Amino acid sequence: MATSIPDGIILPVMRVDLRSDTVTLPTPEMRRAMAEAELGDDVYGEDPTVNRLQERVAELLGHEAALFTPSGTMANEIAIKVWTQPGDAILVDAESHILHYELAGPAVIAGVLVETYPITDGVFNLSDIPPRIRVADDHVPGTRLLCIENTHNRCGGTILPPEWMPELRALVDRHQLRLHLDGARLFNASVALGVPLQAWSRWADSVMVAFSKGLCCPVGSVLAGSREFIREAHRVRKLLGGGMRQVGVLAAACLVALDTMVERLADDHARAKRLAEAIAELPGFSVNLRTVQTNMVYVHTARPALEVERALAARGVLCIALDPHRLRLVTHKDVDDAAIDHAIRAFREVAAELSA
Ligand SMILES: Cc1ncc(COP(=O)(O)O)c(C=O)c1O
Repeated sequence: MATSIPDGIILPVMRVDLRSDTVTLPTPEMRRAMAEAELGDDVYGEDPTVNRLQERVAELLGHEAALFTPSGTMANEIAIKVWTQPGDAILVDAESHILHYELAGPAVIAGVLVETYPITDGVFNLSDIPPRIRVADDHVPGTRLLCIENTHNRCGGTILPPEWMPELRALVDRHQLRLHLDGARLFNASVALGVPLQAWSRWADSVMVAFSKGLCCPVGSVLAGSREFIREAHRVRKLLGGGMRQVGVLAAACLVALDTMVERLADDHARAKRLAEAIAELPGFSVNLRTVQTNMVYVHTARPALEVERALAARGVLCIALDPHRLRLVTHKDVDDAAIDHAIRAFREVAAELSA
């Protein structure tokens, strides 16, 4: 997945960056809070701002404790390492971030075998899980962990139905597995359905939520779980070089995000829907509108996606050619209604140009 601006493209004045919600910039209120944050050495557990963030997120997610990490990737990898021993197996869905975009971290860091279960449009069949669970014997590694992702990035920002969680928990318990939730965009799911984060998070043994995406913070994710899990997670974070010192300067922005950025996600979702509906009307493009549930729009392109990406970039609209015929567009705080109008105009021009 190439995420940079295509070579040779000179961006026009109007620039609409739909590559990812990670491009968002911190707000003036966040910058002020960062400058004024009360600090201490977090490796010693003495940064009051980090401690406040961890306590607040643990409570929000319905878990005993939480740990601030530099990234969502590190939080996922810490969870996998804590829940497994080298030589174990884990199950992730076939489109998951852990499988596609974490550089084989589970194999490198935890030494585990990663196996997949199928997923379509962000939804999987619970019945597809048990046949893939391995029971350890003299020849076979034991499956220890099941990972789920919500909202689901590669499936288009789709939401896992919260009413599935009790049954999923029962399945995990039946097979003595642990359940890890990659909730990089769990806040989006919660706002979209109007249900609390706990509708998903309390059923999992560990949960990661990210602050550097739609919540607009410059850095940071939080991993939550039991006190015992977090004690071990703290050690693994240190092992990975993720022990940070006066990191309250970053946690301060996350605290502001909890107060000011969560409800705002509904605007991103409405804009994504408007963009998707407009693109779906155009020749040479199709959008599965059923999957446009939060802040992502996946567009199928008749022409090569890279060609469309370039034509859009020349008009100041940045997106990512995710696959040979698939573009990803993500709405966020720094894309307003005028920016969406501009993006729709650019798509209309490109549709006319490429179908001529
Ligand atoms: C679903 C999901 N999980 C994990 C991550 C990793 O987060 P980070 O970029 O902070 O490592 C991402 C990043 O986009 C993501 O979309």
